Amino acid sequence: MKSSGEGNANGKIILMGEHSVVYGKPAIAFPFQPTHVTAEITDHAYEKLRSGYFVGPLAKAPKSLENIKTLIHQLRHDFSTPPVQITISSTIPAERGMGSSAAVAVAITRAFFDWLNRPLSSKLLLNYVNYAEKISHGNPSGIDAAATAGDEPILFQKGATFETFPINISAFLIVADTGVKGKTRQTVKAVAKRFEQDAQTTGRLMNELGDLTLKAKNAILNNQAPYLGELMNAAQKNLAALQVSDQTLDNLITVANQNGALGAKLTGGGKGGCMIALASDYKTAKKITTALTNQGAKATWIQELGVYQYA
Ligand code: MEV
Repeated sequence: MKSSGEGNANGKIILMGEHSVVYGKPAIAFPFQPTHVTAEITDHAYEKLRSGYFVGPLAKAPKSLENIKTLIHQLRHDFSTPPVQITISSTIPAERGMGSSAAVAVAITRAFFDWLNRPLSSKLLLNYVNYAEKISHGNPSGIDAAATAGDEPILFQKGATFETFPINISAFLIVADTGVKGKTRQTVKAVAKRFEQDAQTTGRLMNELGDLTLKAKNAILNNQAPYLGELMNAAQKNLAALQVSDQTLDNLITVANQNGALGAKLTGGGKGGCMIALASDYKTAKKITTALTNQGAKATWIQELGVYQYA
């Protein structure tokens, strides 16, 4: 056992396929490197958490940190370890659809295994993270765990091994935070209820979202940015029909499209959280982020998609 262990993870952005991924449809996610989390584990007289939200005994941590508590208890139980202190520092905004809960679980699990000085397979890592994600989100597809644990874009399908794929599209992705906490747990539940009440319409919307995702993958591989933008707009229509968008997201999406975006949609669980937009060049991306900020976005990021390109 080492004196301390360290682990890291990225935020993530779902490009296409949120919600439908819970029903077995494919989804595309990118690790979002501008935001990340680091966890450090050291042994301690009692279980202690130090984070931006809470500093003190883990037993007294608020209910919103139940996922961390449960994960630490499971890890300590599985490896019969003494109590630990967990220090978390994160630049991933919480509850904004950027996968902060999964990323924290990835970083903690990595830090724990580093502290134990044991190798950690990606399968075992995802098992622990999905265990913690069940506490956070109720019925997670596993996409947040897979995307925050990796360094490459993924095409994810629940229950299947996910594939990574190269980005071959010259475009810029804009991410904007509405400043409103997203409600993934509630929206996933509300969509499940819609499915119960109207399986036919909800099923059709899900199938279409799955098709749009596969088309988006081809658009990315074939450098078709305007087409990818159209697919994002089409996905947003379906997400709005599933009632997981809201007024704030709709406003920012409209503003992005009015300022030259090729397409725009919500990302993640919806009802708050973040939206994304696609721009063909950096100048337009800057124009869009300025317009989004003027419209009330609390933070914006620009990511060049080409950065992931590899031969
Ligand atoms: C949350 O980032 C994405 C959802 O599809 C839920 C999930 O996949 O677990 C809304």
